[in-house]
Amino acid sequence: MGRTVVLGITGGIAAYKGAEICRLLVKSGYKVRVIMTRAATSFVNPLTFETLSGGPVGMEMFKRPEGWEIQHISWAQEASCLLVAPATANIIGKTACGIADDLLSTTIMATPAPVVFAPAMNVEMYNNKIVQENMIRLKKLGFWFIEPDSGFLACGDQGRGRLAEPQAIVDFLLQVLEKKRDFAGQVFMITAGPTREPLDPIRYIGNYSSGKMGFALAEAARDRGAEVVLVSGPTELKPPQGIQFFPIRTSLEMREVVLKQFPMSDIVIKAAAVADYRPEEVSEQKIKKTQGNLVLKLKKNPDILGELGKLKKEQLLIGFAAETEELRDNALKKLKNKNLDMIVANDITLPGAGFEVDTNQVKVFKRSGEVIEFPLMTKGDLADKILDEIKKIRP
Ligand code: PMT
Repeated sequence: MGRTVVLGITGGIAAYKGAEICRLLVKSGYKVRVIMTRAATSFVNPLTFETLSGGPVGMEMFKRPEGWEIQHISWAQEASCLLVAPATANIIGKTACGIADDLLSTTIMATPAPVVFAPAMNVEMYNNKIVQENMIRLKKLGFWFIEPDSGFLACGDQGRGRLAEPQAIVDFLLQVLEKKRDFAGQVFMITAGPTREPLDPIRYIGNYSSGKMGFALAEAARDRGAEVVLVSGPTELKPPQGIQFFPIRTSLEMREVVLKQFPMSDIVIKAAAVADYRPEEVSEQKIKKTQGNLVLKLKKNPDILGELGKLKKEQLLIGFAAETEELRDNALKKLKNKNLDMIVANDITLPGAGFEVDTNQVKVFKRSGEVIEFPLMTKGDLADKILDEIKKIRP
């Protein structure tokens, strides 16, 4: 992978933050080629970017080429990645419609490199259905998005629409750039975290899952070029950038989303700790303390992964098994009963493994009979190892 980032600056007040993004990319060792739209030059002087990038700023589509190089073609081909930050509703809309009428939009059309948009605009514009639909369309076509932050906006409004922090944008970009993209074109659905099964308006039955394992898998798949849908129970973690995120609370809610997304998925990894039972009755009022013990009647939850095993066509199904005893036998039973291609068996009694911690130690059992034992490592590293094993099943 080369080391040139083409940085597109469009016309919004956040254009000034583009300068910091440019500086951070140069500091990380990237050659930065800056393209500014006409509107962007009303906010920041191109000289700022010329100075920071150490090269000319592209602005004019029909400037006479230097030598025989046509700028929008040569920069499009040189790019390892094209980042538009800030990205206005206008450039997102133009790209979604295939319009190429200036240097930036033409370069976007002409580049084979990944294109990342970091939108920034007024909250009402950001929530506008047309803008949202344009973003959904572009995501489906393989464009990446770095979601804007929420907060106080330059126009005086409050809400989502503020450009993500320059350092967060650059971190995301570097991850995308420095990973192999061996899952490009594949759609992953990954589940993470716990479920909460309500008892009354203030209590629930839950478990210790932090979501770390599932989120690590989602980020690893994203970084290797996949389109990722992450369905997660309540966790402390921030939804990862560049991923379609579905927050759920109960196992029934998870089931609904998972079944809906399943036909569009190529590979499913179920790392979530789903409750096997839920209270048969959910009290509308707070359950009051009485003299004696309280007996709860629990109802069996549907086995979501088991259902997917019955429905699966071309999809690859990977389950997890959290066990405290007889790891091998229990994992193999789940592999067979749920019709899985692979199961990641987690002996949660091992130090540093399982729930809440940043590390994990697992054994992987494949339908082919192959068994791989991984030593203790971070959940991020393990996520990559699991993806490597998936790649061996479906090269
Ligand atoms: O989130 P962390 O704190 O990082 O912890 C990670 C983890 C320990 C939760 C994770 O590594 C793990 O082991 N996840 C699976 C936990 C679990 O519920 O295992 P299980 O053996 O009960 O379920 C087997 C499989 O069936 C799992 O893929 C589960 O998602 C799925 N299942 C279970 C019950 C159910 N009703 N529906 C399901 O789909």
